[in-house]
Amino acid sequence: MFGKKTTKSTLDKEQLELFQHAQSRVRQKKRLYLHFILFLIGAVLFIVANLLFNVGKDFRPFGIDWFVFPVVIWFLLLTYHFVNVFITHTFMGKAWEQEQLDKLVAKQEQRIEKLKQHLSKEENIQAQSQAYSESLAEKKKKSPKQEVTIIVAAGEDNAIGKNNELIWHLSDDLKRFKELTSGHCIIMGRKTFESFPKPLPNRTHIVITKQSNYSSPKDVITVHSLEDALDAAREDKQPFIIGGGEIYKQALSLANKIEITRVHATFENADTFFPELNLDQWEEIANSYHEKNEDNNYAFSFITYTKK
Ligand SMILES: NC(=O)c1ccc[n+]([C@@H]2O[C@H](COP(=O)([O-])OP(=O)(O)OC[C@H]3O[C@@H](n4cnc5c(N)ncnc54)[C@H](OP(=O)(O)O)[C@@H]3O)[C@@H](O)[C@H]2O)c1
Repeated sequence: MFGKKTTKSTLDKEQLELFQHAQSRVRQKKRLYLHFILFLIGAVLFIVANLLFNVGKDFRPFGIDWFVFPVVIWFLLLTYHFVNVFITHTFMGKAWEQEQLDKLVAKQEQRIEKLKQHLSKEENIQAQSQAYSESLAEKKKKSPKQEVTIIVAAGEDNAIGKNNELIWHLSDDLKRFKELTSGHCIIMGRKTFESFPKPLPNRTHIVITKQSNYSSPKDVITVHSLEDALDAAREDKQPFIIGGGEIYKQALSLANKIEITRVHATFENADTFFPELNLDQWEEIANSYHEKNEDNNYAFSFITYTKK
């Protein structure tokens, strides 16, 4: 209350800087002006001393009057001072450096902002994919006993077809196929579906195609991935994946059972194959051998595998 009264500046920081800068420029210019006056006086004194009062008249380095040397050197110093005040300090002084630095910082801040936006987009995608995996896991929990079964007839060399047709006639295999799949969903690739003369009775057909406008008969479900096909079959305790080659390849990791009719022959002219089974992952739980006869043109075995 009774202490010394302090004066507080009412200028903001930026104004204060401008003000101080202006003051310093005035000081610099005053000093230059003073330098110029001193130079003029000094130069005149040297000239007068040498030419009028003959001071050091005989001292003539390189045949030139000595006063020329101090005047020229002083003039050069004055020029240096002038350049410093009007060029270096104007264009490349501290203020110029600060301006460049600010520009650089602003650019870096823009880049950081962009990176932040990019990161937050990626975080969104990660969150969405996590939510998708969780919902898949949830769906799996809801149907814990679903037995996704691959059903296939394949030669010893894994041949399964040629020109979109089967290569053999095995009546017993067709009967077994009918017995096992009746009442269930059958999931297949578009080409296998088109190899049927018409949809098979008493089964829900789920056809996988990339074509968005694929037209199929009424009651045939069309989907665009194997995952979507299994989702469409989620109410079925045992959906069957019935081929062909492309779909079997994608299905091996998702299935937990394989019903294979192993045809005991090789088919060199085949163009479609079942993928090689990794028997470290599959356990044989049933195997029954059948001889060739008038209804079955090759010997074959019905083999059942479950995933280990
Ligand atoms: N021996 C057996 O047990 C058995 C069983 C079934 C079939 N077969 C034979 O297998 C052959 C057919 O097999 P294939 O490999 O040529 O064809 P496929 O697997 O029956 O069908 C392939 C088609 O499925 C669709 N597709 C595949 N993967 C997809 C995905 N991830 N997303 C969306 N669509 C997808 C595509 O249809 P779009 O081109 O329309 O996009 C593709 O052209 C025939 O010879 C048939 O007789 C044999």
